[in-house]
Amino acid sequence: MRRARESDLTALLALEREFPGDRLSRRSFRHLLARAKADVWVCEEKGALLGNAIVLYRRGTRTARLYSLVVAASARGRGIGQSLVAHAERHAAAAGCEVMHLEVRSDNPGALALYAGRGYAVVGRAHGYYEDGADALRLKKRLARALGSAASTKHGPRYSTGPNAGERRYAHSR
Ligand SMILES: CC(C)(COP(=O)(O)OP(=O)(O)OC[C@H]1O[C@@H](n2cnc3c(N)ncnc32)[C@H](O)[C@@H]1OP(=O)(O)O)[C@@H](O)C(=O)NCCC(=O)NCCS
Repeated sequence: MRRARESDLTALLALEREFPGDRLSRRSFRHLLARAKADVWVCEEKGALLGNAIVLYRRGTRTARLYSLVVAASARGRGIGQSLVAHAERHAAAAGCEVMHLEVRSDNPGALALYAGRGYAVVGRAHGYYEDGADALRLKKRLARALGSAASTKHGPRYSTGPNAGERRYAHSR
């Protein structure tokens, strides 16, 4: 598990093809990697990217948003999705966040089972949220307090600095 870098762009875009729609562009990934208040985590095995998780941070709040999660079809069922979420949660907590929230398609039982298993609760529904008109469920989890959370993240303490460009630009989680 490590942070994504510019040289991962092609592999990240290949993973995007696992989504039926609402895909991130190369430009969006560049922004996420370089400037956005975001963490892009990847799982790498023998030089191949098997999955990624993207977390967005929002100025003035202690809430993080798990914006995207994907595991390559050939690598599913091995616990990688779960590990990516656990990793993302730990780092969000270390950055001072108390809550993680996310949206997920209501017709995605695999992802819903994963999140339920990690303690996420359904807190709402957004009708017609996705490009194809599918509904999203809104999920939320209170994060365990990080011990000695010095917020050693890419951009420093998220919840107090910088404009919230990421949230505006990346409206749709998957
Ligand atoms: C959802 C996704 C990330 C799961 O990744 P994964 O690495 O296969 O998941 P894990 O192996 O960590 O599974 C963890 C738990 O999630 C649940 N789960 C995952 N996939 C499942 C499926 N297809 N059906 C039912 N439960 C599933 C299970 O509870 C599983 O625990 P178990 O193996 O002990 O039963 C992956 O299927 C994926 O990338 N799908 C396409 C993109 C997507 O839907 N992303 C989520 C958007 S919010």
